[in-house]
Amino acid sequence: MSATFGNKIKVTLFGQSHAQAIGAIVDGVPAGIFIDEERLSAFMDRRRAKDELATKRQEADKVLIKSGVVNSVTCGAPLCLMIENKDTRSQDYSNVAMVPRPSHSDFAAFVKYGGNNDIRGGGQFSGRLTAAMCAAGFICLEILRARGIEIVSHVSRIGAVSDEKLNQLKADDAVNKKLLASSFPVISEVAKDKMREEVLRAKSEGDSVGGEIECAVYNLPAGLGSDFFGSLESLIASAVFSVPAVKGIEFGAGFEFAQMWGSVANDSFILDENAQVVTDSNNCGGILGGISSGLPLIFKSAFKPTPSIAKAQRSVDLKDNKETELIIKGRHDPCIVPRACAVIEAVTAIALVNADGFVI
Ligand SMILES: Cc1cc2nc3c(=O)[nH]c(=O)nc-3n(C[C@H](O)[C@H](O)[C@H](O)COP(=O)(O)O)c2cc1C
Repeated sequence: MSATFGNKIKVTLFGQSHAQAIGAIVDGVPAGIFIDEERLSAFMDRRRAKDELATKRQEADKVLIKSGVVNSVTCGAPLCLMIENKDTRSQDYSNVAMVPRPSHSDFAAFVKYGGNNDIRGGGQFSGRLTAAMCAAGFICLEILRARGIEIVSHVSRIGAVSDEKLNQLKADDAVNKKLLASSFPVISEVAKDKMREEVLRAKSEGDSVGGEIECAVYNLPAGLGSDFFGSLESLIASAVFSVPAVKGIEFGAGFEFAQMWGSVANDSFILDENAQVVTDSNNCGGILGGISSGLPLIFKSAFKPTPSIAKAQRSVDLKDNKETELIIKGRHDPCIVPRACAVIEAVTAIALVNADGFVI
């Protein structure tokens, strides 16, 4: 199944970029959870496009809770979370129906669905569906938050500009608070200014730029996840790779391990001030044997540059099988990474509530 994730709290996405609506069905949510709509809309707002760094498509992203909640409290029935599409300009996509955009889903979807795929705004492959991921993820984030588990992320790189790292050993409350309140979360203000310049430079050249998000889960208890196919890495990677444009993920030191020696890489066990077993470093990113170790769970995901760029590109006209030049119309993000932070937090929460050992 492609649109459904999870076996405890099942999330099913629906809709396309220019359909009447997009949304998510969230099944398995226990009764009695207070859904704070102000918090929900503040979370949705972190993903919403709102300045010159993002698409000009303006959507309110108001989540209409159609079922599963009575008087702001979940009642045990599946939640239907709907978000209307209002600001669509489907005519902008007429030329990409037969001339696929390089690096977008158009060509693969055309082949898979025999040309019946919804090309308008990228159909169900659009980054727009990440609003539905956020709505569903918010419910899971609230379940985790009630247990003191906090998920936070920041833009750790855009192009050649990188940010400082999140605290790898314990939550830094001041930093987390600042990041969670921002729709362009970066720890260093200097790095943020440089990243902004990089995005605007790409935009001014009719281009786009990629980047990276570092995400941490603090206060996650030890013992969640399992060996082999149920490993926390497998589960989180599966959820994170569902986010359009994600092309890489690494846990802890990740690919840096390839150049390390064991004596440097290993996280030594020590006792903390409460005589609890912890480690003195966190190169393994809080996961050992596919199971949470009690240290912060840390991973990074890499995003490719937005495929739709204003520059002329080479493509093929599928109608007459001839090479051609493609000029993309429509409104696109020169860099999707800042908006994707809330999305990464959301899908991480969806993965974690479905982890082996997590009792709903
Ligand atoms: C928040 C978000 C916004 C996006 N906005 C755009 C966009 O404006 N234009 C575009 O071409 N791709 C955009 N994308 C990326 C495409 O949806 C994605 O590259 C495409 O569906 C192909 O999937 P793939 O990159 O995973 O192969 C966005 C992705 C995200 C996460």
